Amino acid sequence: MRLPGDKSISHRYAMLAAIAEGRTRIHNYSTGADCASTLGCVRALGIPVEREATEVTVSGRGLDGLQPPSETLDAGNSGSTIRMLSGILAAQPFASRIAGDESLSRRPMQRIIQPLEAMGASIAAREGRFPPLEIHSARLHSIDYTLPVASAQVKTCLLLAGLFADGTTVVREPARTRDHTEIALREFGAAVDVRGRVISVESRPRLRPLDLTVPGDLSSAAFFLVAALLLPGSHIVIEGVGLNPTRSELLDCLIAMGADLRVRNLALGAGEPSGDIEVRHSRILGGVIEKDLTAALIDEIPVLAVLGAASQDGLIVRNAAELRVKETDRIATVAENLGRMGVAVEVFPDGLRVPGRQKFRAAELDSFGDHRIAMAFAVAALAAGGESTICGAEAAAVSFPEFFDLLDGLRA
Ligand code: S3P
Repeated sequence: MRLPGDKSISHRYAMLAAIAEGRTRIHNYSTGADCASTLGCVRALGIPVEREATEVTVSGRGLDGLQPPSETLDAGNSGSTIRMLSGILAAQPFASRIAGDESLSRRPMQRIIQPLEAMGASIAAREGRFPPLEIHSARLHSIDYTLPVASAQVKTCLLLAGLFADGTTVVREPARTRDHTEIALREFGAAVDVRGRVISVESRPRLRPLDLTVPGDLSSAAFFLVAALLLPGSHIVIEGVGLNPTRSELLDCLIAMGADLRVRNLALGAGEPSGDIEVRHSRILGGVIEKDLTAALIDEIPVLAVLGAASQDGLIVRNAAELRVKETDRIATVAENLGRMGVAVEVFPDGLRVPGRQKFRAAELDSFGDHRIAMAFAVAALAAGGESTICGAEAAAVSFPEFFDLLDGLRA
């Protein structure tokens, strides 16, 4: 099988293309609603965007080419859209307002407001910390900023703002997070320097338009990998999946837990590695996800918790308080659904423990409007005897509208 394009990379390509000088073509653009929200915002900022299925053309007008939006920008359910785009909006000579759905309206924005204000931005938020954000026009100056939480979205916001600021903007990360922005910025022609967890970007580059192909989304692949590991007799090959080392720790983690998993046909495009992943049903030992590994696997923890229940020794997740401020409180929504399936789970403020050797019971499940919860529990439901129902399963479309059809197509 093949998967739609990576969500994280698609957002970044669309935003950088909007401020590059000329027509960027993006192939295999993510089909998820989140990345459509980014394209909608880019369009609302006066940038021509053409889209035919997964082929997207963005006619960028350079760093100074955005137009004032006539309405509130709609980020939908997408934390990446609101946080990353705010870095660009904060530096514009016009004011803008950006909002999202109910879930996004509950997600913390101080993490971008505080450093952007330190750069000279002026931002009003509901209760000082939630969307909608009202972003006033400002001239930004560079900062040297240490992120209090490991967040690629916040890092990206500041690096994008840094393109418009005077001087060199420096971002220091407490743990390594996905580096798609650094890679893409270089490809578009910005001067980016990376030394360990310290990233610097120079201001006012001229960004060139590119012809880019987005690799398959490894976080979407995770659901199929876990399904294959769980279900006896399974054997899947997923072609052309993004294998950036800041994301592919998922594969190392699965192999360490005993997964029969191999990678072939490695390729490199626009600085991003990709390859085919082959996986077979395996006996999984279980393990511990903590410290820096937690940041690297943050989006995959719901489906790994499902795998943990069926493993020999179970799974412990710590240092994952960030899960509480995702599309849902994913510690609570994972625990709730596991409980409905008769699976024991212990909840901590910053994680959970799922004992191993447990059986899934078919149940009435709920996505709580969270795409990754819908997909993680579809996988759990496959491992249960009998029929489960997932209320709000359509939430999968936020990142992966084809999920249920592709899953169905894999039936032996
Ligand atoms: C993302 C970063 C992560 C991740 C999200 C996408 C990105 O969020 O959970 O799905 O594309 O940069 P944080 O940066 O808030 O950890």
